[in-house]
Amino acid sequence: MSRKSKVKLTNITKKFVTNEMETRALQGVNLEIFDGEYVSISGPSGCGKSTLLTILGLLDTPTSGEYIIGGHDVSNLTVNQRASIRNKHIGFVFQSFNLIDELSVYDNIALPLRYRQDALTNSEIEERVKSSLAKVDMSHRTQHKPNQLSGGQQQRIAIARALVNSPDVLLVDEPTGNLDSKNGDLVMKLLQSLNDNGTTICMVTHDPRYADMASTQLHLLDGVMNESLHMELAV
Ligand SMILES: Nc1ncnc2c1ncn2[C@@H]1O[C@H](COP(=O)(O)OP(=O)(O)OP(=O)(O)O)[C@@H](O)[C@H]1O
Ligand SMILES: [Mg+2]
Repeated sequence: MSRKSKVKLTNITKKFVTNEMETRALQGVNLEIFDGEYVSISGPSGCGKSTLLTILGLLDTPTSGEYIIGGHDVSNLTVNQRASIRNKHIGFVFQSFNLIDELSVYDNIALPLRYRQDALTNSEIEERVKSSLAKVDMSHRTQHKPNQLSGGQQQRIAIARALVNSPDVLLVDEPTGNLDSKNGDLVMKLLQSLNDNGTTICMVTHDPRYADMASTQLHLLDGVMNESLHMELAV
């Protein structure tokens, strides 16, 4: 049985030009992620991991190359088209949680549902928010504000928000970077169980222990993807 492709990058480059210099952050990266896969991307600081994830997450566009999500070419979209596809297909989890302090846990998670083009009823929103909260074991904290939660709890709420639209792929950038090791381990366990239940994940991490939890481990160095693991498996 052939595996279903969720996202596919072909020959992606990203150049940043500032006054003084040009940085080639990604140099011809190929990456295909399949349904149910758990991919980790590691590499030294500055090698292009976050740049790659923001392109996968449609938060930025590549300088050249092709990006296909679920069979559709999303390489050259307007900002509004990208936002709409991002909301529907991508869940993004940041190192710094990026929750909105003024909103309750419930409203933070409901936010992506309220931005959908196909309007949902309040009871549909409630059902989905509750189901997302249950997945991260945070059903007891709906009315708290983010600053009334621990770091580990905030990251679990950020994961619930990323899951609420049932994205094709969950993109996770250094999810444990702002957590102590105990809470970091708990967040990693949660990601593992989400993947066991079918969520497709692409995670960037510095920590080799966490990278090892993924089924496919990729390495970036100076903007170049090392595909040796893939090639070894193919032989
Ligand atoms: N907006 C930008 N403008 C100019 N250069 C940038 C920009 N964003 C990233 N870069 C450069 O691109 C390269 C890759 O950066 P990136 O943030 O992807 O690294 P990283 O692998 O995520 O590093 P870290 O592990 O420290 O988070 C770096 O040399 C960085 O300085
Ligand atoms: Mg980074």
